[in-house]
Amino acid sequence: MSETVRLQKYLAGCGIASRRKAEEIITQGRITVDGEVVTAMGVQINPDRQKICLDGKVVTPHDDLLYVLLNKPQGYVTTLSDPQGRPIVTSLLHGINTRLFPVGRLDLDTEGALILTNDGDLAQKIQHPSHEVTKTYEAQVLGLPSEKILQKLEQGILLEGKKTAPAKVMIITRQTGTTTLRITIHEGRKRQVRKMFQAIGHPVFHLKRIAYGHLFLQGLLTGKYRILTPEDLKKIFIKKIPLQSNK
Ligand code: URA
Repeated sequence: MSETVRLQKYLAGCGIASRRKAEEIITQGRITVDGEVVTAMGVQINPDRQKICLDGKVVTPHDDLLYVLLNKPQGYVTTLSDPQGRPIVTSLLHGINTRLFPVGRLDLDTEGALILTNDGDLAQKIQHPSHEVTKTYEAQVLGLPSEKILQKLEQGILLEGKKTAPAKVMIITRQTGTTTLRITIHEGRKRQVRKMFQAIGHPVFHLKRIAYGHLFLQGLLTGKYRILTPEDLKKIFIKKIPLQSNK
């Protein structure tokens, strides 16, 4: 015997949108239950016996797939356990009962955007070099790098015998003795950004990832997370370099 559930809850659980957005979608008359448009709120449905469609396409539960964006603080490791007893990022996911894993890594001393999920396929897609998912970092570096030397970074430099893929670099501010820049890369070599700036003689002393593709932290406080919607997930794969976007 299957259970009934409120329509908007079911839609949100299927990853269509947040609960609030799901209510808007219902109000817009885009949902049908067994072929009948439903615009009223609070309708109970039985997903095992009824056909629920959004814009004419069947909505199916991929029930417990979950995606979150965490603003990782410095001092947290992105592994699932740490023999040295340092704090692990998943300890920050209060209120989430599903086991999630980090997509890729961020150094202990790097802060910022980290996606965690239980969706292995999506994690693989984000990390697979063929998708060239861009990652944008804000780096504070020592010294005042010249345009000419930054162009070298953009064209690719030799790191441990292998040339880096082209990067996009933009100066945000120059202060006395330090510079804040944004750099967008699509590779994920270990400590890559730090090594790239080190290689041109301008070591990084503060590093924060601000975006995957066009998915930005957007005011998410350090140590906090938010659950990602399907729209958010699409932004990860937008290729256009987001250097001008809002963080
Ligand atoms: N590049 C780095 O140097 N560190 C990170 O954590 C991520 C990218």
